[in-house]
Amino acid sequence: MASLPTATYHWQRLPIPMGQDNTPQLWICTLQAPVAEVAGNKWLKLHSAIQQRKPGQGMLSFGGAFSNHLVALAAAGQHYHFSTIGLVRTEQLDTHNPTLRRCRELGMQLIALDRISYRQQQLPEFLARLKITYPDYLILPEGGSDLAGAAGVAQLPLLQTPDGDADLLCCATASGGTLAGLIQRYPEVRCLGLPVVKDASLADRIKQCLPPTSSYQNWQLAEANSAYGKVNAELVAFCCQLKLHYQLTTEPIYTGKALQLLSQLLQTGSLSGVKRIAFFHTGGLQGLHGLYYRRLLTEAQYRLLLS
Ligand SMILES: Cc1ncc(COP(=O)(O)O)c(C=O)c1O
Repeated sequence: MASLPTATYHWQRLPIPMGQDNTPQLWICTLQAPVAEVAGNKWLKLHSAIQQRKPGQGMLSFGGAFSNHLVALAAAGQHYHFSTIGLVRTEQLDTHNPTLRRCRELGMQLIALDRISYRQQQLPEFLARLKITYPDYLILPEGGSDLAGAAGVAQLPLLQTPDGDADLLCCATASGGTLAGLIQRYPEVRCLGLPVVKDASLADRIKQCLPPTSSYQNWQLAEANSAYGKVNAELVAFCCQLKLHYQLTTEPIYTGKALQLLSQLLQTGSLSGVKRIAFFHTGGLQGLHGLYYRRLLTEAQYRLLLS
């Protein structure tokens, strides 16, 4: 397949009073993908897999019932004319779930996987069986986080803000591929993962997305302040404030939660010495529909955040 068109990037400075004295500049980098629904980090992560796909080959991957990754893969499949299968961590496929409905509209075949089977997705026997069942599909891991996915993220020019080079690069971190991309692109620059999951294996997952012989020393993970998907009133209010005051659209599962954690780190002085932060806005806004569907957002909050 011919190489894919490149994304464009938009920078916004957030004049956010996040810390006390010597507050660093905070720049948000948003990616505008050529295919709108393959948004944020997904465009970069899926890039090489889409290009490596053999003619006629489909793509299969894994995700939760509100997965941004599955919607992005389904949208890529529709746009570039390949078939897609999503193995969804759920007992039963909910036909009203807006994320799953969108995946189906985009032509993805969905298959429910119970939690126990889902956890086996990386086991060689499980993958071998999957390859036999779906011989015409390229299998991608959950979140598209693997060596190729991280190498795609390494194309992101996150260092150069409009005001000069950043000295701290950060992003929301869940399966680790996005941070791994930043780490390898800028080995001399400090990279900070802002975890949106409580996962003791996260550091190892990041290492698995880095070239095996590498030993990067330029990164660390902040301590997560809540489990994956946990959304409370304070977090939703934080996202609404970002929208109201700075016209920055976030959602509380990934980007909003990560920015809230960054704000806490700045307020407690944990990032002293940092002068300019570049934060990668990883997308995920389709998740707002699922949050409203689960009544985790009021109608007013949903409309504000979507606007
Ligand atoms: C919107 C969004 N932001 C951030 C992340 C976290 O990225 P990663 O899984 O590469 O750590 C994800 C999950 O892939 C996501 O959907």
